Amino acid sequence: MSAAKGLDPEFLRALKQKNDIVEVIRSYVALDRKGGNHWACCPFHHEKTPSFAVNEGEQFYHCFGCGASGDVVGFVKEIESTDFMGAVRILAARAKMTVPESNFDTEKALLMKKKRDAMAKIMLDSARFYLSNLYSGDSRASAHLQYIANRKLQPTTVKKFGLGASLDFYDLPDYLAGKGYSREDLIDSGVLTESRSGRLIDSQGGRLIFPIINAFDEVVAFGGRLLEKSDFAKYKNTKETMLFNKSKTLYNINLLKKLKREEPINNVIIVEGYMDTISLYQAGFRNVVASMGTSLTKDQARLVKRYSENVLISYDGDFAGQKADLRGLEILSDEALHVRVVPMPEGLDPDDVAKQGADAYQKCLDAAMPLIDYKIHATKRKFDLSKTEEKRRFVTEALRIVSQAESESVKEELLRKLHTETGITYHALERDLHNVSKEKKEPETSLPATKLSEAAAGTDKQKKAVRFILAAKLFSAPYAKDYNLRNLSLEDETDKTVAAYIIDREEKGERIRPSELFEVLDEGSAEFSEILDLNYGDKLSGEIAERFFADSVKTLERESIEREITRLNAAFVEETDESKRREITKQIGACIQKRNRLKK
Ligand code: UTP
Ligand code: MN
Repeated sequence: MSAAKGLDPEFLRALKQKNDIVEVIRSYVALDRKGGNHWACCPFHHEKTPSFAVNEGEQFYHCFGCGASGDVVGFVKEIESTDFMGAVRILAARAKMTVPESNFDTEKALLMKKKRDAMAKIMLDSARFYLSNLYSGDSRASAHLQYIANRKLQPTTVKKFGLGASLDFYDLPDYLAGKGYSREDLIDSGVLTESRSGRLIDSQGGRLIFPIINAFDEVVAFGGRLLEKSDFAKYKNTKETMLFNKSKTLYNINLLKKLKREEPINNVIIVEGYMDTISLYQAGFRNVVASMGTSLTKDQARLVKRYSENVLISYDGDFAGQKADLRGLEILSDEALHVRVVPMPEGLDPDDVAKQGADAYQKCLDAAMPLIDYKIHATKRKFDLSKTEEKRRFVTEALRIVSQAESESVKEELLRKLHTETGITYHALERDLHNVSKEKKEPETSLPATKLSEAAAGTDKQKKAVRFILAAKLFSAPYAKDYNLRNLSLEDETDKTVAAYIIDREEKGERIRPSELFEVLDEGSAEFSEILDLNYGDKLSGEIAERFFADSVKTLERESIEREITRLNAAFVEETDESKRREITKQIGACIQKRNRLKK
């Protein structure tokens, strides 16, 4: 939801007109004019060659490296780490304008903002409360302090991460009750839960508290750890709220952001847990964030990319066997991040290793390797190579992994390593690899996996087609002019917003200005960034683009008709009323005619 809706649109338009984006950005970074754009090294992620472009005509910026994009207000917001109104005030001061006092907030936007502010305050109050518990001298906190000591956390570290203590289920509700929050907001924020008897209780009752803080230094959630082993989940996170979307959040992103301003970040270490993060930080590895247990998401990958292109995956020793995590790693390479995996001693996690000292962990980092090497490394650990039988099984498994390598030179390198490790001649390994590759071409038995990836590829292709059509329309490619977006059935919210905007402008006969979309889209929308990426180089012009556009339109329309036919067929089977059945039959007939027309 954009806060822009809260401001008089006339004022906003004037504000943007008086603050030319090129001039504003130039006051922060040096710009280089090349082609239609102004270029710079992106101020939002560390890079050596410029991929940050400012489009003067359309008044927006877009980084092809990290995907950051926005209009002039968005830029100031990002670079000054402020919110929408903060950026508006800065720009107004710059242009000597006065921000109108009474704004035109729709009631709903105002309520949303009020709600968000209340929740942010509840989170902050709770964080402070937990924090004060820890050193309050209350005897109930001694268990927490003992736990912290056992895990070798120093007081400065505890403070840096704002750790706290929940001492029971009722202190926090009592404390918050005196602060005038509504019962609904307290429950919606996730810090309190309604018990069966209707009483409000601390969702984290009794736990050690890890505040989760976003890049704007707001506490958005808590991770709470049980102090003792029990049947309950070891960690419990605040539920998803207006402030907290776990799949878009990385633990410790706030300190990483600070670090980035202090020094260039060569790489970011991604760990699984809170304790891994804190221990590494304490040991001097400050470039660390945690995915909080789950396999990485696209949003998290993009978030990391703002800080560095190089990612070191530092998960628990045995993760290679878990499919979920490997899929997460592919998401990273999909975002063009350079990924390496940090091997861990058997059964240990980064926290355990960091406890042995910074040197011990540095050794692991030095041994970081590409994913495919890591797969072989992890396989090797399952076997005792001094036993002939086990060595053979290792070689078979390793060759199967080698056969997945993307290039012949990588295969060769891996075979050489395998030769050194096993003493088997290179040529024998090469011949065996050849047989493995042949074996692989036979029909796969693991059908579900194949089907799944095919389905995913299908939707990927579909998405690509949709984004191409939208980009062509948005940047007024001549071949797209006569295509009516109403013919497109869209599922993704961002795509729908972009299409609705274009349709609206076309129907009013007004000019399409891509930068206006920043006012209505979610901040940092990855989907919109994909659309903007297409407006680069010659991607949207020329014969190939024109053909791709036409093909995309056809593919999508055909798919949507197929879907419609399937839906109607199902409806027909369900329907018992004769006249309604006839109606459905007619509709199916129309669809089939349409499909036939498309085939021509
Ligand atoms: P781990 O089980 O590896 O925990 O989960 P850990 O960080 O090593 O914890 P310690 O050392 O036993 O204290 C990794 C991360 O997964 C999430 C947490 O974010 C945790 O830090 N997790 C794990 C949960 O959210 N819930 C759970 O029950 C377990
Ligand atoms: Mn651990």
